[in-house]
Amino acid sequence: MSELRFDGRVAVVTGAGHGLGRSHALALAARGARVVVNDLGGALDGTGASSGPAAEVVELIRAGGGEAVASTENVATPEGAKAIVRSAIDAFGRLDVVVNNAGILRDRSFGKMTVEEFDQVLAVHVRGSFLVSHAAFPYLKEQGYGRIVNTSSPSGLFGNFGQANYSTAKMGLVGLTKTLGIEGARAGIRVNAIAPIAWTRMTESVLPAEFEAGFAPERVSALVAFLSHESCEVSGEVFTVGGGRVARVFVAEGPGWRQDDHTVEDIRDNWDAIMAEQPYLTPTTLGEQAGASLKAML
Ligand code: NAI
Repeated sequence: MSELRFDGRVAVVTGAGHGLGRSHALALAARGARVVVNDLGGALDGTGASSGPAAEVVELIRAGGGEAVASTENVATPEGAKAIVRSAIDAFGRLDVVVNNAGILRDRSFGKMTVEEFDQVLAVHVRGSFLVSHAAFPYLKEQGYGRIVNTSSPSGLFGNFGQANYSTAKMGLVGLTKTLGIEGARAGIRVNAIAPIAWTRMTESVLPAEFEAGFAPERVSALVAFLSHESCEVSGEVFTVGGGRVARVFVAEGPGWRQDDHTVEDIRDNWDAIMAEQPYLTPTTLGEQAGASLKAML
């Protein structure tokens, strides 16, 4: 089978100075993409800034014979997001791929979490992914082609103690992925999300050291590159990925139970049927989901 290449394509990877984003940028560049390496260069909690991490990754790409430019803009502001996209247009004349990867952590148990900790985490993950995609959208739409990969998390999909802010943000990205997938379809824009696990500065305090090699970020980037490629037509999907394993995660609805004008006691008495998982449906739009209920009324 032929190698999947990105010659002629231009990619923006946010948060590409460290960890997963760095690995995605290197993987795309190694296959011929010209890359905007965006990174604010701050600490894990989002404080501070440095031009060092983005510049280092650009140097690595250039040393390997690739083309890249650095961007130290903040994804969480409209001006920052527009400047990131502008970097791609100014340096390379086009934009094909957006990998929304930038992220921070402000973990705290729910009762102790401050409003600021909640807002800051949503700002980088949700607002940042919205803003960069929104700035890119007119270019992708105009050329009738684009690939967007958002970065969700198992923490959002399944929940995790101490991460109310982060889980909310990461599940929010699933909603963004699904709706943008629908809205971008006619313009050839495919939008998917990954929910990775990798040994990075974000996880080094929770993943034991012996997992460092097994959960290398490179083991996430092959999927990101595939979802970024023109041959990949899937959209609106979410995949867990890491440690060598890739799996589709889907939102399913059980067969359900229905009875006109039911009482509270009817709910109690039919709880097993309401909770049943089989046979499940996997609607891909609100219309598909509501359709089952509408049909039942005819
Ligand atoms: P990391 O901390 O190594 O990388 C995140 C990068 O984003 C950093 O280089 C940081 O400077 C940059 N960044 C933060 N705020 C920014 C902003 N406002 N503008 C531009 N850049 C900014 O962490 P890691 O693990 O590589 O995380 C990458 C993404 O993957 C994040 O969205 C994270 O939430 C997600 N993720 C990671 C998992 C893991 O196992 N490492 C698990 C699930 C999700």
